[in-house]
Formats: sequence, structure tokens, C-alpha cells
Amino acid sequence: MKINKIDEKFIGTEVTIKGWIRTVRDQKNFTFINVNDGSQINGLQIVASEDRTKNYTTIIPQLTVGAAISATGTLVKSPAPEQPVELQAENITLIGTCPTEEYPLQKKRHSFEFLRTIAHLRPRTNTFGAVARVRNALAFASHKFFQEHGFLYIMTPIITGSDCEGAGQMFQVTTLKFNELPKTATGEIDYTKDFFAHPTFLTVSGQLNVETACCALGNVYTFGPTFRAENSNTSRHLAEFWMIEPEIAFADINDDMDLAEAYLKYVIAHLFENCASDMVFFDKFIEKGLIDRLKNVINNPFERITYTQAIELLEKAPKKFEFPVKWGCDLQSEHERYLTEELFKKPVIVTGYPKEIKAFYMRRNKDDKTVAAMDVLVPGIGELIGGSQREERLDVLEKRLEEMQLDKKNYWWYLELRKYGSIPHAGFGVGFERLVLFATGMENIRDVIPFPRYPGHAEF
Ligand code: 4AD
Ligand code: MG
Repeated sequence: MKINKIDEKFIGTEVTIKGWIRTVRDQKNFTFINVNDGSQINGLQIVASEDRTKNYTTIIPQLTVGAAISATGTLVKSPAPEQPVELQAENITLIGTCPTEEYPLQKKRHSFEFLRTIAHLRPRTNTFGAVARVRNALAFASHKFFQEHGFLYIMTPIITGSDCEGAGQMFQVTTLKFNELPKTATGEIDYTKDFFAHPTFLTVSGQLNVETACCALGNVYTFGPTFRAENSNTSRHLAEFWMIEPEIAFADINDDMDLAEAYLKYVIAHLFENCASDMVFFDKFIEKGLIDRLKNVINNPFERITYTQAIELLEKAPKKFEFPVKWGCDLQSEHERYLTEELFKKPVIVTGYPKEIKAFYMRRNKDDKTVAAMDVLVPGIGELIGGSQREERLDVLEKRLEEMQLDKKNYWWYLELRKYGSIPHAGFGVGFERLVLFATGMENIRDVIPFPRYPGHAEF
């Protein structure tokens, strides 16, 4: 039985649990063993005793921290205040031994940096167990939200020939041998000899592909891994991260903002209903005040301002920024965090960014200077969501590709969506790990994905 399913209803009945030993306390004729099976933050207390537990004297010395066991016995009310129930073990079976001296997870607190070096074992700690459960709940809630709102889940490809963000930060995928590259007559690499017969990369976003589904099926979303070869060694960037990208048909930038706000409120509310004890843990040990902060997010409308207003507010700010602000500049993390953390103290949606600092597919506004982009900024993180209304006018889009010196040939199919029955549509991308940071109060993005990939690190 899973420990999270055990409660006072089962008092007096026989129960079997399987898990890993967290602590062992030897009394004279008793031993208290705390076992955790990953189903919840708290383990179950197993009480072994000389008179009740079979083979007590031979089994007890083998029950070391980290060992895997199965325990069967009667569930009783616990005399200790820490837990409502405990298991009086009649039978304990050792499933996997654990040499105590070598086991890296001793009872003392370990730094997150150290735990990153043992990413294969860190899910056995309280914090990483809780992160895994919250991550699972957020993924489930994301699907639930979009499914309940009539969105179709579309699986978009991971290997692609097109650069969605046009930023050239892609990992190349090839089967060519680096020491014997085939060359054309003019000395360039002959990609016709490569696996796909042209250069291919890991996708930076499923957006372009999911737009094709949107322009046929209506509201859709994709949720998958994305890859960016940007050399950002920060606590907010990964080289491999997951993104949820809805795309809404017959919709504009306001529909996009409404959807993003409703989505965030929904998934956070889902956590309170489904991960209550993990959320209490995060509130107590990771970020004091987390629960109040998130309740605030659910209960208040997000602030909505234009980029131009944001620049004015930043220029008036009493704070000195490392990067000076003026109209036209990209907002740096320090600017985003000032707006959301200090000025508004809640999520802020910024719209209407200068076209020069945004991707080619964003819809040009009437002023000819800005595009219908929107970023959702949240306290503690900065940018959590990036989205836009898409440019649906073929001529405007072609001109933009040319201005940005992107090869129209690579986007021929994307352009055809604008030729055949083009519609206004909009969408956004949620950085899933940033969402987990936001929901747990964890500080480093490397600690909210099981196996983080970042410059110099792809172990495990
Ligand atoms: O703002 P971005 O680059 O937008 C897109 O990729 C669009 N194609 C999305 C769309 O409209 N369908 O990325 C979206 C979000 C960011 O707001 C951020 O939360 C996250 O993805 N993100 C990263 N998360 C972790 N590591 C990185 N290197 C990230 N880059 C972006
Ligand atoms: Mg962005």
C-alpha cells in the first residue's frame, strides 16, 4: 500500500508498505524505522519489537539508512504527536541492502549544489521528492486545463529544420562524422549526405508546427522538451527545458492574455487542492510566505501595461539599474523583477514591445514600431510566459522575414498558412521549469528538473 493512502481508517487492519529507510532509532527492545516510499513528504513510522517482529535480532542490524524494505503489520494509533498512525511490524523483509558508510545521503542537510552531483539519488530527499510531485501535478493540471477548455493536444517534432525564434541558438543534429565531413565542389559541407539531407536541429519551440494545427483544428496546445544552445549560466536558464504552448484560433492579443492569466490561476489552485502537504513544506522550509504569495496570484487580477508604460515607470524608478533603460531596449531581468516585485507586487503582463527586439512572427501594430507581443512577468522569476498574436498577413510577414535576413525558403510552409485561409491567431509559451520555481519558491532552475542540462553539464 502507498503511504499517502494510509490513514486512521486503516487502524486495526494489516498493512504492507515498501520503501527506503530514512532513519533508524534503536531502543532497548524496540526499533523505530522511518520509511518513505515517495508518495508523500512524510514517511511511515514502523515499530519493530523483539516480541512481535519475526527474526528481530537478525533483521535489525541490516536495516540501515537507504536500504529498501517491505514491512507488514498492524496499523495502530501512534502515541507520538508527530504522526497519527504507525505500523507495528510483524514481518520485515530486506529488499535491497545499503552500505551505510558509503551512502551519500546521510541524515544531515545537504546543499543543493552537492545534491546536483548525485542527481540519481536526490529524489530520495524531502525537497526533491516534493519538487517531483509538484512538477507532476503542474503537468497534469496543464493538460487538465487545456482539455477542459476544448484544446487538442498536438505532439510537435523535436528535430526540425526551422529556427522558430530566429535567434540561431540551436543544437545541430547530424550523423556526419566530424573528422571526415563530405564537401561540395565549392568546399562547403555537403548536407545532402547527412541523415535528413539538409541541416537539422533540436527545436527551440513547437510553435510554428502547432500553428499549422491551429489553422485547421482550432484551439490546440503542445507540451514537450525544447532546447536552447544559449550560453546562459543563470539560475533561470537551461539548455533543455519543457514548454507548454497553446495556440488559439480566431483570437487576438487580449484573448491571449486572458488565457495566460486563467491558466496560471488554474494550475496554482490545483496545487493547493492536490499537493497540500508539499506546499506546506515549501512554505516552511524553502520560501516563507509562499502560500500567501500564491493565494494573492489566484485572487487578484494581473496588472497589464504596455512596454512604453513600462519604460516610463522604469525611468522614474528610484532604483539604479545595472542596464540603463530607454525606449527600444530589451527588458533585462532586473527591470522585469522591479516591475513585478517592487512596483506592482503581483504578476504583470507587458504588451506592445518594439519589433526590433522580438521574433519575426509577431503581429505588427498600427504604429509600425511595436508588435502584439506579451510577456507575463512574475515575482522572483521575471519572465514566466512569452507569447504574441501572430502575423497573419502574408505580405507583412514576408517583408519582416526579409528585414530580419531570414531565408523565406525555410519558412515556405509557414507562409502558406497565410496564403490559404489565413486567420488571426495567438499563443504563448510557458517555461515549465520557471513555473515550478514560481510554485515552489525554489531558487535555481537546475533543482526543479530531474537531470538539468546547462553549459558544461549533461551528466546522468
Ligand atoms: O519567450 P520564448 O522564447 O517564446 C517562445 O519560444 C515562443 N515560441 C512561445 C510561443 O509563443 N508559443 O520562450 C517561452 C518561455 C519563456 O517565457 C521562459 O519562461 C521559457 O520559455 N524559457 C526558458 N526556460 C528555461 N531555460 C531557457 N533557456 C528558456 N528560454 C525560454
Ligand atoms: Mg521571451
